[in-house]
Amino acid sequence: MSSSVKVVVTGAAGQIAYSLIPRLVDGKTFGNRKVDLSLVEIPQVVSKLEGLVMELEDSYFPNMGTVSYTDDFKEASKDADWFLLVGSIPRGIVYNGKKIEERSDLLSINGGIFVDQGQAIGSYGKMDAKILVVGNPANTNAFIGKNAAKNNSQFWMAMTMLDSNRAKSIISKKTNSNISDIKNMIIWGNHSPTMYPDAENVIINGSLGSIFLNDQCWIEESFIPSVQQRGKAVIDARGASSATSAAKAAIDTVIACEQPTESGFCFSAAITSDGSYDIPEGLICGFPLIRLDNGAIEIKRDLSLSEFAKEKINLSIEELLAEKEAVEHLMK
Ligand code: NAD
Ligand code: LMR
Repeated sequence: MSSSVKVVVTGAAGQIAYSLIPRLVDGKTFGNRKVDLSLVEIPQVVSKLEGLVMELEDSYFPNMGTVSYTDDFKEASKDADWFLLVGSIPRGIVYNGKKIEERSDLLSINGGIFVDQGQAIGSYGKMDAKILVVGNPANTNAFIGKNAAKNNSQFWMAMTMLDSNRAKSIISKKTNSNISDIKNMIIWGNHSPTMYPDAENVIINGSLGSIFLNDQCWIEESFIPSVQQRGKAVIDARGASSATSAAKAAIDTVIACEQPTESGFCFSAAITSDGSYDIPEGLICGFPLIRLDNGAIEIKRDLSLSEFAKEKINLSIEELLAEKEAVEHLMK
């Protein structure tokens, strides 16, 4: 393993990035490796990154390597190992006179960003680069980026770890368990109000949720809608979309990809479907994932899905297919 890792972060002057970037160099996310940061912003904002770099230097991070900032994504991409694509517009704001209510409303605004970035990543990123799309609508942005990259040796993901962490928190309260005793909290489908947080395959204190929870009414009427709508609840309460929890979830995703998954367990992210669980090939869909000892990441394929679960997942797949159709013009 190389002793340093190069990480590109877009949207580096934004809310999420302010929580995210220090954690990349704190010695926990990438262990003992030196972390070289390449921070990217749009031209109007890029100069603000000078202040962030000053703060990073002033924070004493022994694992921090070089830090650069630019508005030239191609330049930033050269030989990068990781791309954390946060840069995009959040919902909850007024854009061109219209309040952005749903993540899918962001499709036409943010989708285009991922064509150019995808092309640059495919050409200039490392052949085994990992890409985590955080900017919404994350699944379809990743779909656009991966298509533009035309580099199948790189690994594209969209973030569902925040939804998984939210679901764990709700289940820990419901069952009076410690959050660390809740494992395999899978988010299937789209990072949107159609996502399916799986209360049947979750493991609580070593027991399957399908046995331990035993309260279908709570699952359908409280648990699932609360996870699906948590992003909106945070926006309503905060007046801005979730930032520190999103940053923590991005870090959790990186760590889950960097370290082998404990046997029998899995983590959540959306990746390109290979047809597993009858999900149409090519869609970027939330799956249960395993990081193998050899560094490969694959779908955990031995889980059972009830008819209820399949129905819910299908709703999310239909939405992903509709989003795919809406961005057809960006697929070259
Ligand atoms: P923010 O507005 O605070 O920051 C976004 C930053 O991105 C801005 O500084 C902007 O200048 C920059 N940017 C825009 N276009 C860019 C480009 N082409 N290249 C580089 N930078 C660019 O927003 P935020 O709160 O940090 O949220 C960022 C995104 O993350 C939003 O789309 C939000 O909806 C999404 N989000 C996703 C999740 C998730 O779970 N997947 C969670 C929270 C937020
Ligand atoms: C979230 O889930 O918090 C983010 O996707 C932001 C949003 O728009 O909900």
